[in-house]
Amino acid sequence: MAEALISMRDINKYYAMGEEQAHILKDVNLTVAPGEYLSILGPSGSGKSTLMNIIGCLDIPTSGAYSLHGQAIEDLTDVELAGIRSREIGFVFQNSQLLPRLTAQKNVELPLIYAGVPPKERRGRAREMLERVGLADRMGHFPNQLSGGQQQRVAIARALVGNPSLLLADEPTGALDQKTGRQVMALFQELNAEGRTVVMITHDIHIASYARRVVHIIGGVLTEGQAIGEEGSDPYV
Ligand SMILES: Nc1ncnc2c1ncn2[C@@H]1O[C@H](COP(=O)(O)OP(=O)(O)O)[C@@H](O)[C@H]1O
Ligand SMILES: [Mg+2]
Repeated sequence: MAEALISMRDINKYYAMGEEQAHILKDVNLTVAPGEYLSILGPSGSGKSTLMNIIGCLDIPTSGAYSLHGQAIEDLTDVELAGIRSREIGFVFQNSQLLPRLTAQKNVELPLIYAGVPPKERRGRAREMLERVGLADRMGHFPNQLSGGQQQRVAIARALVGNPSLLLADEPTGALDQKTGRQVMALFQELNAEGRTVVMITHDIHIASYARRVVHIIGGVLTEGQAIGEEGSDPYV
């Protein structure tokens, strides 16, 4: 069996709330193999973003073991975590978070600038990635000259331009209308079909159903989901 990309064992996360400790993630176990397309489905406040921050090495668990691509993250310094983030993970958030004063192409080049890739190569790679997400004719546009769906596609191109092992998305369609959201989901499916590992976090069961595997999180407890459509599989009924 191939080595797991994500391996989480008994992950707990507490936040200090005054004198109290709020228990946000409760003994979470999760294994994701390379090439999977997983969605993590749960209602607002269930701990999804907290879990995403840990998966994305933006935060560390209070207890438990997490390794990403075979690297245990517990004992790493902030600088080492930042290195892992930039090499291994492409982030997509609800709002595309593009820099307004940069063109689509420059926005996509940014991670490569930070990674020290020379100008000519990074221009080529940014263009290629924008073509891949269907924006060949929008490279010189600024974010405010693009629709919400196009902005999100630029953000996806930016997330993928460094060729990370994992595309990690938190409510990627949350700010989009239904039709545009479906287009972004179609793009995720294509990217996964090309072999990219995708982990997508959502509160929307229809969006979750685009993934090949769904896990549920409720009150900080993660459970493997039944296939969507099976009777009794909808936790919101
Ligand atoms: N930095 C923090 N300090 C204290 N509580 C937090 C913090 N971040 C999140 N929480 C709490 O943790 C719970 C889960 O939050 P979150 O992971 O953002 O949920 P979701 O993304 O599923 O809506 C919520 O009750 C939230 O108030
Ligand atoms: Mg959230």
